This record gives sequence, structure tokens and C-alpha cells, in this order.
Amino acid sequence: MTTDFKHFWYIVAESHELTKNIVLSRQVCDEWLVCYRDSQGKATVMRDRCLHRCGKLSDGSVSQGILKCSYHGWLYGEAGKVVAIPSMGNTMTDNLKGRTYLTREQEGYIYVRLMDNGDDLQPFAMPYYQKSGWKNIRLQNDFQNTLSNCVENFIDIPHTAFVHKGIFRSSRNEAIRAEIKRMNGQVHVTYANEKQNLGSFNWFLNPRGRPIVHTDSYFMPNITFVSYSLESKWQYVITSQSVPVSAEHTKVYTEISFRFGLLTPFIGWLVKRQGQKVIDQDIQVLNQQMRVIKKYGSHFYDTPCDTIHTSVSEIINALYAKQDPTLLPDQRHEVTFRV
Ligand code: FES
Ligand SMILES: [Fe+2]
Repeated sequence: MTTDFKHFWYIVAESHELTKNIVLSRQVCDEWLVCYRDSQGKATVMRDRCLHRCGKLSDGSVSQGILKCSYHGWLYGEAGKVVAIPSMGNTMTDNLKGRTYLTREQEGYIYVRLMDNGDDLQPFAMPYYQKSGWKNIRLQNDFQNTLSNCVENFIDIPHTAFVHKGIFRSSRNEAIRAEIKRMNGQVHVTYANEKQNLGSFNWFLNPRGRPIVHTDSYFMPNITFVSYSLESKWQYVITSQSVPVSAEHTKVYTEISFRFGLLTPFIGWLVKRQGQKVIDQDIQVLNQQMRVIKKYGSHFYDTPCDTIHTSVSEIINALYAKQDPTLLPDQRHEVTFRV
């Protein structure tokens, strides 16, 4: 049974960030973590606390796969084992080991799982990663807001015409129909009759104004997946892995994967620049939302157009209540947005 946020896999770094002699300090679900590579190059994630006298291990250094505490120089090797205590003449009698966590390295990300659930849950497989004809760009951003409000934003259509006016979409009072299905800790949304409303990139993305195939998905507790298929088999997908750093801080790893035919290898910089511009706009509005919530509480007024939000937040709230979200009833709704 999955009843805790700590039962899931979360990204702690992109693989290239954890180079050989680097030590990284991270926080996931309020746990302080230190990350380093052991002598075999294996990523190790351990509680950021020295066994000796509680030095902060991430203030230390790594050399040849050995992490040294900055306070009295205790040395930690593979799987967090203490391999030497300098003040004891580097002799080791006890079998000491730091609190390490399950770690995986997959598709250029390093993941941690803070609580083993005894099941075989794997990190989310990143779609189209290194697939021929596709290109992926990656962004990292910090939001001062809850996991729930962040993931809701990433699959929220109505805000795009206001927050991202012009870039993404503009307000035309067009009706977009959506079918929203929830089951098994997931929410899947299929949009119908969306066309020619992709803001300043419309001329390029959809010059003939053909219908767009647009689906959004949410996988508990922290992954959103947005997919647009355009004419000529052009396609782009945005996968966001939101990491709950603490109750009011969410770190978001965004991956934009796209195939735009022959243009694909050349426009990574443009996709990256526009993607970051859109995320900066979301950060601004979400950070302000959190300030308002802290001052006046989070009393939301939900309309039928907020059905995606409520479907997602019921899943997240089940986890806060230590309940298994897969036991929530399956749901199917049809909603019409005006955008
Ligand atoms: S606190 Fe880390 S070596 Fe003493
Ligand atoms: Fe947005």
C-alpha cells in the first residue's frame, strides 16, 4: 500500500551535476540529504548528518569516492560505511554506517526513495528520452508553493491565456471540450477541438490550423505529462517531475521533448528560452498565491472547470491523510472550457 509521499521516487539531481569529487546538499520531503559518488561511481544518497557529532556532511568534501566530514574528518565510503576515524589513528573497530536511501540512476537523473514500500515501483520512465528524431531539453526551477498547487498549475489550461498571454495561447473565447478520467492514482485528460491557438508560435507550430491532439496526464504524486501532436507528425511533450522539498517549497525538473522534423537539432535553444520564460511567469503567480494562502488560508472556490484540480488534489490529500489514493473511486467527467 502506498500511503506516504516518501514511498515514491524523487529526482535529487541530473547525473551530470554529481561529478566525481562533488558533494551535493539536497532536501526531499523535509529530509536533509547528502549525495556523492562512491569509488565505483555509484550515486549514494545519505542522511546529511555525521554519525560522530552531527556535523553537516554536505559541508564536507569528496575525494576518490570517500566523503569526509568537515568537523573531525570521519570518512564515509561505499553505501555510507565509515571507513576511517582520523583521531583513532584511522583504525576502525565498529561496523558503522550512515543512514542511506534507495538510489537509482536512470535516463540522466539520480533518484532517491526515502521509504522502501516492499513493492517494485520504478522511477517514472521519461518519454522519448534519446529516441531517434527527438530532442530533449531540461530545466530546473524552484517554486515557493505546495506540490499540489504546482502540479495543478502544470495541467491547468485556463490560466495559460492570462499568465502566458501571447506566448502560449491568447484569449479567444473558444470552447475546448475535455474528458477527465481518474483511476489508480492517475488523472488523464483528453482535449477535443483545440486549434490554432498556440500564441506567437502558431505560424510555426500549426500553420494550417489543423486540429491539435492534446492530452494531459498526472501520475501520483508528482508527475505531470502534457502532450501536443500537431500536423506533419510534429509533437512536443512536457514532463514535469515536482519534488516536494518541504511543505511550501517544490523543486521542479521540467523536460521538454520535441520532434519538429528537420528543424529538431537546431532549435533546442529556442525551446529552452521560451520554456523558461513560461516557467518564470508561473513561478511569479504561484509564489504570490502561496503568500496569499499563508495570510488568508487556502479556501478555494471550485467551478466545473476546476475538475482537473480537484481530481488531483484529492489524490494528494489522501497521501497527506496517510491513505492509499488508488482506493479513491474511479471518475469520469466531461467539461467545456472557454479559452
Ligand atoms: S561530526 Fe563529523 S567527524 Fe565529528
Ligand atoms: Fe503555466
